[in-house]
Amino acid sequence: MERTFIMIKPDGVKRRLVGEILGRFEKRGFQLIALKMLDVSRELAERHYEAHKGKVFYDELLEFVTSGTVVAMVLEAEDAVKLGRRMIGALDPSEAAPGTIRGDFTTSTRQNLIHGADSAEAAAREIALWFPELR
Ligand code: TYD
Ligand code: MG
Repeated sequence: MERTFIMIKPDGVKRRLVGEILGRFEKRGFQLIALKMLDVSRELAERHYEAHKGKVFYDELLEFVTSGTVVAMVLEAEDAVKLGRRMIGALDPSEAAPGTIRGDFTTSTRQNLIHGADSAEAAAREIALWFPELR
């Protein structure tokens, strides 16, 4: 079994898609391990997205992710990281397939509803960052 880190972004909470998104993971067979709703501090956002520091979209990304409440969670399944990314769908709206979360609910590259860890290493780092109490 593998754990992944998933975060529903402020647009997902504002658009009342938390149940829809979490439901998709549960129905697929992911086990919910930890869940919290929080307003992300600038510091947490910077640490979460440290790999993107210096990129053209970085400032707007941080502004967006700190603009409202998010829902952070740890989900467990066989091959959870890869499966989670496939369920989320591509970043490019024209590539996000129907049936994926982004492909079904957004046309925006920034307001794209959800973050999912993109590797086992990223998942471990993000779980430790967002859920230091979990071990
Ligand atoms: P990235 O990690 O490449 O995408 P993903 O969320 O699919 O893992 O980028 C992180 C976030 O940065 C992405 O969800 C939205 C934002 N972003 C932009 O706003 N514009 C861009 O051109 C890119 C690459 C990302
Ligand atoms: Mg990413």
